[in-house]
Amino acid sequence: MAGQDEKGKEKAPAAPEQPRKLDRREVLMGLSTVPALGLFGYTWQKQRQYQQAKLQAASPTPAAAAGLREINVALLGAGAQGQVLTDAMLRIPGLRFRAVCDVWTEYNQKRVVNILKRFKHEVNGYEDYREMLDKEKELDAVVVATPDFWHAQHATDCLKAGKHVYCEKEMSNTLEGARSMVAAARETGKLLQIGHQRRSNPRYLHAYEKLLGEAKLLGRIVTVNGQWNRGVAPDLGAPDRYAVPEERLEKYGFKNMHQFRNWRWYKGLGGGPIVDLGSHQIDIYSWFLGANPSGVMASGGLLYHDPKTHEWYDTVMAVYDYETAQGPVKAYYQTQTTNGSQGYFENFMGDQGTLVISESELNYAGQLYRDPNAPAWDTWIQKGYITAPKLQEVQAKEDTGAVADVRESVAPDEHKVPVALRDPYHQPHLQNFFDTVRGKAKLNCPPEIAYESAVAVLKVNEAIEAKSRLSFKAGEFEV
Ligand SMILES: NC(=O)c1ccc[n+]([C@@H]2O[C@H](COP(=O)([O-])OP(=O)(O)OC[C@H]3O[C@@H](n4cnc5c(N)ncnc54)[C@H](O)[C@@H]3O)[C@@H](O)[C@H]2O)c1
Repeated sequence: MAGQDEKGKEKAPAAPEQPRKLDRREVLMGLSTVPALGLFGYTWQKQRQYQQAKLQAASPTPAAAAGLREINVALLGAGAQGQVLTDAMLRIPGLRFRAVCDVWTEYNQKRVVNILKRFKHEVNGYEDYREMLDKEKELDAVVVATPDFWHAQHATDCLKAGKHVYCEKEMSNTLEGARSMVAAARETGKLLQIGHQRRSNPRYLHAYEKLLGEAKLLGRIVTVNGQWNRGVAPDLGAPDRYAVPEERLEKYGFKNMHQFRNWRWYKGLGGGPIVDLGSHQIDIYSWFLGANPSGVMASGGLLYHDPKTHEWYDTVMAVYDYETAQGPVKAYYQTQTTNGSQGYFENFMGDQGTLVISESELNYAGQLYRDPNAPAWDTWIQKGYITAPKLQEVQAKEDTGAVADVRESVAPDEHKVPVALRDPYHQPHLQNFFDTVRGKAKLNCPPEIAYESAVAVLKVNEAIEAKSRLSFKAGEFEV
């Protein structure tokens, strides 16, 4: 039983393991878990064990790094993303894991507790976060990676208990919830970072500060488009022996195991692909354009998936209007879950150039195209802001003999953004959070910014239902 996470990787459950150091041979040969997990689980398990062995070798005791006061951390929500964040945090010096809270005690909680123990973090496992906050007095920070509908309650209660909080996006599935989080951060004076991790990604920062800000390489941006396309993926499941008892599911807001595993697709729990995936990229539209949208129209529907198990739209196409300081902009975004063609990226188009950027290091990463009529970019190449161009040749194609029409536009030269992230995608954003806890940085995504993003994104589902263009009212982005 497998599904996909936001990167389209397999996200099958792996069996809870006993804390035991793996030797290299075991890692390479794979362990004897094949029959229990099936092929997806087996591949995933092997991949994870390999990565962990690499991590162990590379940084045996990152939490004991010299000269840093240890920050005591708890993980609240140890699912797929909780695991990804844990892996990234294990690479950040000066962190000491103290606790893991997850209601799936039989499975996810046990798995992450065991992994952390292998890395010599003596953690306690909890089902109820209140009990954790009560008992773990020395905690400095809580990292929240529970389903969206729990974020507001988890984040506000942790803040009120005096902890700094890193909470995953979407900040909340309701604006009321998101507002309560902003208010709690302000009242308590504690830090709240929301997990829009592109805001700390060095390539995005370079594009924002240098390419758009200083060099203004695109000229006047008039249109934006972007997408996150994914192929059909099976629903997430779980082996029967790890099923959560009904009473516990109900206690935590889930009707059954399908909802528990596939909460993203259910109204009241998640927001569907537009919120799950679009929230990352529409956040970038507003950041790079330096404005919030003035209106949005959208079309979407459940065109493919089974309505009995999928409540939200599997296909969404939205067009935002922006009134930026440089003039009006139209920004298109699409997400579909039936064909993964061309993956995910954001594409900013100005009268002097184009920037295609993606969090993916494998596809797109960062590319620029200078309009043939734009001033030369030599200065920026010399400064190292962009690479020298790969020239596009205009000639008859030798293999087919096809000849270009003389009036055809010359294809613009391609430059690369020469900044790659060599760490896990979430590491810089977590690092920014912990640096801020230490008083050495400023949050890259404080709750006020994430709130603006939530307002823009949640409106798309409303616009689909309304079947008309919706305007954002004055003050709608403020708390
Ligand atoms: N920033 C990113 O790139 C990114 C990527 C993936 C997911 N996410 C976000 O991370 C969050 C988690 O997503 P996921 O894919 O890991 O989901 P998941 O279903 O795999 O994991 C959620 C975990 O939370 C636990 N849980 C549910 N209710 C709980 C409660 N009340 N108390 C304690 N534990 C509870 C579940 O048992 C499960 O282990 C979501 O908000 C999602 O949007 C962000």
